[in-house]
Amino acid sequence: MARLVGGVGCSHVPAVGAAIDKGKTGDPYWAPYFAKLEPARAWMAEARPDVCIVVYNDHANAFSLEVIPTFALGLADEFPPADEGYGPRPVPVVRGHPELAWHLAEALIMDEFDLTLVNEMAVDHGLTVPLSVMFGEPDAWPSRVIPLCVNVVQYPPPTGNRCYRLGQAIRRAVDAFEGDERVVVFGTGGMSHQLQGGRAGFINVDFDTRFLDGLVADPEAIAGIPHVEYLREAGSEGIELVMWLVMRGALGPEVREVYRATHVPTSNTHNGLLVLEGA
Ligand code: DHB
Ligand code: FE
Repeated sequence: MARLVGGVGCSHVPAVGAAIDKGKTGDPYWAPYFAKLEPARAWMAEARPDVCIVVYNDHANAFSLEVIPTFALGLADEFPPADEGYGPRPVPVVRGHPELAWHLAEALIMDEFDLTLVNEMAVDHGLTVPLSVMFGEPDAWPSRVIPLCVNVVQYPPPTGNRCYRLGQAIRRAVDAFEGDERVVVFGTGGMSHQLQGGRAGFINVDFDTRFLDGLVADPEAIAGIPHVEYLREAGSEGIELVMWLVMRGALGPEVREVYRATHVPTSNTHNGLLVLEGA
């Protein structure tokens, strides 16, 4: 049986990727943030996942506004880093796990989650930055990756509750996979941030703290947060936090909080990093 060994919640701020790629992690602006990553990276080195299921959103790079899948699962052997306007990030190609991905496709669709299946896809900062945060700068990513995209760019995104239930279904599917893979699930994006309009730069540390506390201890309540509350309390891009609920759903009812770090500012975002294990 494949085994779910933990979950990671992680912001995916593109400037964090640029700081790594340009060798600026020791700069005064960045050093305090990067220092906070070390315990999470140490946990990851011990967790040694064979596969990471990375729940993230594409930011109109792989998908344009012509086609907007609510949930899209990546089944390919590999996923190249996307060119987001400055050339692709100089990070390794992301290697997939088609066998587990096709198992997830079948199990989740039979479980009544209607996924879009994707055989070819470039992956943007939403996926590559969390890999850099957790794995640093290896020559090759030490884990296979199954990308699971969630639409949080074009209204209407899925509800938090739907994301939480999807996570529970992912757990059932992983538990049923005949293999000995160690699996980590990432929920990425967030926390509070707004990139546009009159409230650009909006950050709400109180909301984010309540979100993290609730995500750990009372995820059913957090799953009930309506879209309008994310918009009001966490800014227009705070809705990315629903993807953390997929990760939380996969871990089961009780969890142990292994590590939490938050940092403000990184670019426009209150940056969050959370490591959980099933209790
Ligand atoms: C920023 C954060 C994001 O989640 C994103 O997708 C793009 C930019 C930011 O804080 O700059
Ligand atoms: Fe984003």
